[in-house]
Amino acid sequence: MHIAHQVIVRPATRVRGILRVPGDKSISHRYALLAGIADGETRIHNYAPGGDCASTLACLQALGVTITRVEPVSRGAAAVVVIRGRGLRGLTAPAKPLDCGNSGSTMRMLAGIVAAHAFESTLIGDRSLSRRPMRRIIAPLTLMGARFEAADDRPPLLIHGSDLRGIAFVPEVPSAQVKSAVLLAGLQASGQTQVTERVATRDHTERALEAFGASLTRDIDTCTLAGGQRLRGIEAHVPGDISSAAFAAAAAAGLAGSDVSIEGVGLNPSRSALIDVLRRFGALVDVEQTDVRQQERVGRIRVRGQGLTSLELGADIVPAIIDELPVLAVLATAGGELRVTGASELRVKESDRITALVNGLRVLGADAEELPDGFHVRGGRQLGGGVVQAHDDHRLAMAFAIAGLLASAPVIIEGASAAAVSYPSFFDDLERLRA
Ligand code: S3P
Repeated sequence: MHIAHQVIVRPATRVRGILRVPGDKSISHRYALLAGIADGETRIHNYAPGGDCASTLACLQALGVTITRVEPVSRGAAAVVVIRGRGLRGLTAPAKPLDCGNSGSTMRMLAGIVAAHAFESTLIGDRSLSRRPMRRIIAPLTLMGARFEAADDRPPLLIHGSDLRGIAFVPEVPSAQVKSAVLLAGLQASGQTQVTERVATRDHTERALEAFGASLTRDIDTCTLAGGQRLRGIEAHVPGDISSAAFAAAAAAGLAGSDVSIEGVGLNPSRSALIDVLRRFGALVDVEQTDVRQQERVGRIRVRGQGLTSLELGADIVPAIIDELPVLAVLATAGGELRVTGASELRVKESDRITALVNGLRVLGADAEELPDGFHVRGGRQLGGGVVQAHDDHRLAMAFAIAGLLASAPVIIEGASAAAVSYPSFFDDLERLRA
């Protein structure tokens, strides 16, 4: 599905319909990476279709993993990705740099895997990824015994892998990518590895490790894993991505009279703070759990718009809603008020999401201001049309599309094709919800 560089989104009166969103990006990365170092074959259904998860597969192939795609027999079904694992520490030296594209998750988690292999690898990324901080994984993986070369602690990363030893680690920034990199390295290390989090982050890695047969212990804030456990390949089903569902959900919350249901979506409690936040913001949200797959809850979310209130979000909840903050800022323009603090991590995502978001919203006439570690948006005056920049950032491209629905005149998104890294069918899906 090709997305043009420039996309025009016209105002909507309301959105209605039933939607299925692509497979979860975070979970897809993890299943693919674990499959690559497991024994035997893993079949992943509903693997995320975007560019980021394709980068993870390409890197694994460059490390000697055999991956095939089985195309669906029925129309509308997703392809199955079949991965033949090479076993613990069984990857082979790559002949060329490992290109992680736009994907921070790929680079940070893959670093934890290759760090335990006795070869050199170079991890590279696109313009956006090359600006992102890597000290957060370099520090713990160095403590475990790997050696890194990286100018200014940014990509490209040259990693000299080796025999690793387990550590007890408390990440400075709450980050599921960092936690996962350390756990993946710990799985391949001697002794025990322990990660203690000051603020909880998504726990897909912990659940996935157990689904692939590893045992770990988890108490309130600490996860402990013994090194040397072998994983076995599984039949895995990836739920829909709640961070992708957030865009349609926000549109429904912001346009009174809307009624949108998203089916087959992941409801992992460490990922689904969006539901509670939309309710606190004033939307009517119904949730029904329909399934549990590999310890991941799956279900249906129905959102109906009925006006917005004001909301404050701080550091305690930010990691649980980090990817949804751009679209929540857009939503706040539809009559609510949103103040977010404790979110300086937004500045080191695919773009500086605080500056880029506030600038874009202001172009459209919003009453929005930057805070050092967040933003403040006061709704009440309807957005107008205008030209906004997505800054190589998929979530900004999609958030600005929701601004287009809420606005009184068309919004032109420059760099809209960035949406393809997580949600290639986004603009088509959005158009189908107009009512
Ligand atoms: C992710 C964790 C988050 C999130 C990113 C995906 C993951 O990043 O923003 O989109 O899959 O673990 P951080 O770990 O850097 O907070």
